[in-house]
Amino acid sequence: MRMVDLITKKQNNDELTEAEIRFIIEGYTDGSIPDYQMSAFAMAVYFTGMTHEEAAYLTIAMAESGDQIDLSAIEGIKVDKHSTGGVGDTTTLVLAPLVASCGVPVAKMSGRGLGHTGGTIDKLEAIPGFEYELPIEEFIELVNKNKVAVVGQTGNLTPADKKLYALRDVTGTVQSTPLIASSIMSKKIAAGADAIVLDVKIGAGAFMKTVEEAEELAHLMVEIGQQLGRKTLAVISDMNQPLGYAIGNALEVKEAIATLQGKGPADLTELCLVLGAQMLLAAQAVDNLEEGRQLLQSKIDNGEGLAKFRQMIEAQHGDASVIDHPEKLAQAQYQIPFEAPESGVLANWVANQVGEAAMMLGAGRETLEDTIDPAVGIVLHAKVGDKVEQGDALLTIHANRPNVDDVIEKLNHAFEIKDHAQAPTLIHKVIT
Ligand code: URA
Ligand code: CA
Repeated sequence: MRMVDLITKKQNNDELTEAEIRFIIEGYTDGSIPDYQMSAFAMAVYFTGMTHEEAAYLTIAMAESGDQIDLSAIEGIKVDKHSTGGVGDTTTLVLAPLVASCGVPVAKMSGRGLGHTGGTIDKLEAIPGFEYELPIEEFIELVNKNKVAVVGQTGNLTPADKKLYALRDVTGTVQSTPLIASSIMSKKIAAGADAIVLDVKIGAGAFMKTVEEAEELAHLMVEIGQQLGRKTLAVISDMNQPLGYAIGNALEVKEAIATLQGKGPADLTELCLVLGAQMLLAAQAVDNLEEGRQLLQSKIDNGEGLAKFRQMIEAQHGDASVIDHPEKLAQAQYQIPFEAPESGVLANWVANQVGEAAMMLGAGRETLEDTIDPAVGIVLHAKVGDKVEQGDALLTIHANRPNVDDVIEKLNHAFEIKDHAQAPTLIHKVIT
């Protein structure tokens, strides 16, 4: 087999076989296929697409390119949850302990964030002492003991995807539905869960801008998961405005604590109940979604979800006293209000702009080498559909530098105030 022939075949929109796709991924992983040929291949896929079968073969080849986590030593049906990425998306911090408090094992491998989307590991790092690099045996032991552990991806999980994603990033080939679907699903398959609940985001702050695009991606990922023997479903949710009020790492830990106390933002709480009910149903812990929702709500009301979060932090050597004393989390030196220039109804919070503003403060990374300041970020005081008065603080900037003119300039273009506006639909669809 020659790579150049396979590039041409894909260019001509012919379907590749499983053996051909495996040849490409194995060759790219071991270095016998160079970046320039892989770039040409990614561009051919970008323009001609892939069949569902091809995307499934690509997924399995990438999943098998490195370590595959064996979770069979954990009793019960292991459910993973994955978000395609958004701004202020604090759901994993809430859901991992909340679902575990219902008795369902949550063995979660999370990533770091890049650009305006924050990663769960970055958020957990804001908790002093929290360790996310655990040996796999300890990870499994913790889940068996406490039903929950959240760790970073191990070094050699899906190396083919790691390499290809970095290549796509610099060759204009990220925005391809089969490449996104196989990239995400390869990591989920390799991470070993029995069931996968996907949160596919749409809107300004997401990869997918329309419900139609998101549906196509969701359908493809669900089909890949099912084909590879994992129960998979997808919830399509709104990411036009940031989720919750807090954007920034320590600020989002505080928001997660508040949500587990039943005092969280309405949208974050609702999304956690929707995704959590799907996780409980996929794990066969409840008979229907309504029962799942009620069980989750009861664990918020009786404090067991929060107690599980405390246990999870302690088990991973973090300082769990932050739960009772959130002021112990890193706090920024300057709190600067950003005022509404006119009265009306907030009609838009452009999630990616707000996310970029938070990144400029140091809450996110522009390149993989950047370090994150856990203290900084943005706390919104109004969401789309809320009435605002001229001079009210629309948000507070939490900064560790006195001059934030650049951030204010960014935020000036991040919202709209109109006479009328409605709160957006949070949950668009569930694809099973
Ligand atoms: N997230 C991923 O992991 N891969 C993609 O290709 C896009 C988003
Ligand atoms: Ca948030």
